[in-house]
Amino acid sequence: MHLWSIRSTWGLVGALGLAVPALPAAAADINAGKAKADMACAVCHGAQGIATLPNAPNLAGQPHIYLAEQLKNYRSGKRTHEVMSVIAKPLTDQDIENTSAWYASLQMELRDSK
Ligand code: HEC
Repeated sequence: MHLWSIRSTWGLVGALGLAVPALPAAAADINAGKAKADMACAVCHGAQGIATLPNAPNLAGQPHIYLAEQLKNYRSGKRTHEVMSVIAKPLTDQDIENTSAWYASLQMELRDSK
């Protein structure tokens, strides 16, 4: 029966300790993200998230979710780049949350060019 299979699935999941998701990283800390970024990212991505290298992307104002996903992809090897793969490797989930929050908080103002 359906009920049985649902219950037994949950039982199995519970027995393996999979039902309880890993604790999510603590809430993002923008100040810690800025401190980390000043140290480890600003040389290429700029102090305000506007890249200082012609081949590095601007990160200011990018959505938090997007930034965090890219960093996790570099860290896992799903996305590779000779520089970013090395940089992302030692980042903790909390570092990723914090730096993503910092760059996402930097708003850019678009103006008409005349
Ligand atoms: C030595 C220069 C350098 C440093 C330092 C650096 N980056 Fe990067 N970063 C790059 C380059 C170059 C790319 C473009 C990589 C590619 O084409 O995939 C990039 C890409 C990214 C992207 C993907 C952006 C997008 O639009 O998809 C994120 C997010 C990022 N970096 C975050 C960081 C963070 C956070 C740090 C610090 C912990 C950092 N980077 C440090 C050079 C750097």
